[in-house]
Amino acid sequence: MTTTAKATVRTYRNYINGQWVEGSSKETFAVYDPATEEVIAQVASANARDVDQAAKAARAAFDSGPWAQTTAQDRGRVLFKLAERVRQNTPMLAELEARNSGKPIVEAEYDMADVATCFEYYGGLANKVTGSVNPVPANALSFTMREPIGVAGQIIPWNYPLLMAAWKLAPAIAAGCCCVLKPAEQTPLTAMELANWLEEVGLPPGVVNIINGVGEVTGAALVAHPGVDKIAFTGSAAVGKIIVKSAADTLKRVTLELGGKSPNVFFADADWEAAVDGALFGVFINQGEVCSAGSRILVEKKIYTKFVEAMAERAKRIKLGAPLERDTKMGPLVSKEQYDRVSSYLELGKKEAKTAIGGGRPKEFSKGYYVEPTIFYDVDNHARIAREEIFGPVASVIPFDGEGEAIRIANDTPYGLAGAVWTRDIYKAFRVVKSMRAGIIWVNHMQPTYVEAPWGGYKQSGFGRELGPWGMEEYLETKQVFVNLDETPIGWY
Ligand code: NAI
Ligand code: MG
Repeated sequence: MTTTAKATVRTYRNYINGQWVEGSSKETFAVYDPATEEVIAQVASANARDVDQAAKAARAAFDSGPWAQTTAQDRGRVLFKLAERVRQNTPMLAELEARNSGKPIVEAEYDMADVATCFEYYGGLANKVTGSVNPVPANALSFTMREPIGVAGQIIPWNYPLLMAAWKLAPAIAAGCCCVLKPAEQTPLTAMELANWLEEVGLPPGVVNIINGVGEVTGAALVAHPGVDKIAFTGSAAVGKIIVKSAADTLKRVTLELGGKSPNVFFADADWEAAVDGALFGVFINQGEVCSAGSRILVEKKIYTKFVEAMAERAKRIKLGAPLERDTKMGPLVSKEQYDRVSSYLELGKKEAKTAIGGGRPKEFSKGYYVEPTIFYDVDNHARIAREEIFGPVASVIPFDGEGEAIRIANDTPYGLAGAVWTRDIYKAFRVVKSMRAGIIWVNHMQPTYVEAPWGGYKQSGFGRELGPWGMEEYLETKQVFVNLDETPIGWY
C-alpha cells in the first residue's frame, strides 16, 4: 500500500467583497486528507456576522455596483476566462480535489474538464436569454423581460466539490446574479483556489463571495438572511427540509437536489458484459458518493443468481488505493463522519440481507476512511438498506419477476432523482422509461451527465433543475411589461 506524500498545512481565508478576510471570530476549522487522516488545511470559519457581510456585499454589487451595467456578452467572457483558468490549472486543481475528497485522481481530472465545460456552456448561454412578445389585443403591447433573481445563496456538498461550485456559479453569473457560495466544510479547498481568479477574470467585488463553515452555522445564516433572494442547495434530504422551512420566513426561491436511492434495472435480455459492468459502475464510481448512484440494483429472476455472482467476481478487481495513484479505482470516503455512517449501514445490511462481497474495512489499509465495495443481495425493497441513501460503495440487489414488478419496485421509494434500465428490447425499454418516476433516466448506461441536459429530481429528491437552459431559468425572474397603445381615456369613472 502507498500513501500520499505528507502535505503542508495551508491556510485559507474567506473571500468577501473581493477581499480575503479572516472570520470575525478568528476561528478556523481543520480540513483533512481522508486517505492519511492528516490535516492539510485550516480554513477561516464564517459566522452569522461574516455571512451578513457577504450577503450585503452581494446585495450592494447587485443593486448598485458595476455588475448591474455589464452586458450579457461581458458576463459570458468572464465565464470563458474562468474556464481557461481551470483548464490551465487542472493538474493542481485535480490533485487538490483528489487529496481533499479522496476521489481517484483520474476521476478528479474528469471533474475539472466538466467544471471548465460548465463555465463555457453558460458563458455561451449568457447572451442567448431573450424575452418574448405576448399576443394581447391589438391596442396594447405586452412583452416579457428576463431579469436576474438577485442574490443567490449557494450551498454545496463534498462529493464533487468544484463541479458543484461550477453548476451553481456558472448559471448565476451568466444570468447576472450575485452569489454567496458556501462549499461543504469537508472540501472547501478547490473552491478557494477558484476564488483566486475571480477578480482577474473581471468579476467586480461582491459579485461572487465564497465563505466557509459548518452547515448549521454558516449555511443556516445564509438561508435565513433577508438580503438573499434564492437558495440553491445540493445535499441531504434532511437538510433540504430544514432549508425549505427556514427559507419560508423570507419566502426565498429555493431549488434542491437531494440525492436518492436510484434503481438500476436489469432485464434478462440485457447485453451481459455491459450490464455487469454497468451495475458496478452505477454504484461504485466516486466510492458510491454520488447523488444518482444506482444503489438499488433490480435484477430479473431468470439471471439473478448468475448476475450477483458475476458482479461479485468482477468487483474483486476494483483497485482500492491512494487517491493520487493513477490506477486507483476507489479511494477512501470523504470523512470520518461518512465512514462511520456507511459502516453502520454495513452492519445493518448484514442483518437485513445476504452479503455477496465486502461488508467492512479493507484489511490492507491501516489508515484512511476506506470501505470495501459491498454487494448485498436478496434485499427486500422495504429494508432500510433499500430505502435510505447510504452514499458509499454499497449496492442492494433486489430480484424481480417481469416488467410490472420491476416498475413497481423501482418506483416504491420516496426518492426520484434517477433510474436506469438495461434491455435489448426497445419496446420494453421505453415503456419502463415512461413508467419510472424520476428526473433522469438512462437506457443501457448509468451516470453519464452532460451540461447540455437537465439534472434534478422528482418526489423527495428535490425540485428545480440544474444544467442546460433549465439551470439558467432558476436564476431568472420574468417581468411582464404592458404598454398601452390606445390614447383614449379608459372612461370608467
Ligand atoms: P449535508 O446535507 O449535511 O451537507 C451538504 C451541505 O449542506 C454542506 O455544505 C453543509 O455544510 C450544508 N448544511 C448542513 N446543514 C445545514 C443547515 N442546517 N443549513 C444550511 N446548510 C447546511 O450532508 P452531509 O451531512 O455531509 O452528508 C449526509 C448525507 O447526505 C450523505 O450520507 C448523503 O446521503 C447525503 N448527501 C447527498 C448529496 C447529494 O449530492 N445529493 C451530497 C452530500 C450528501
Ligand atoms: Mg450534515
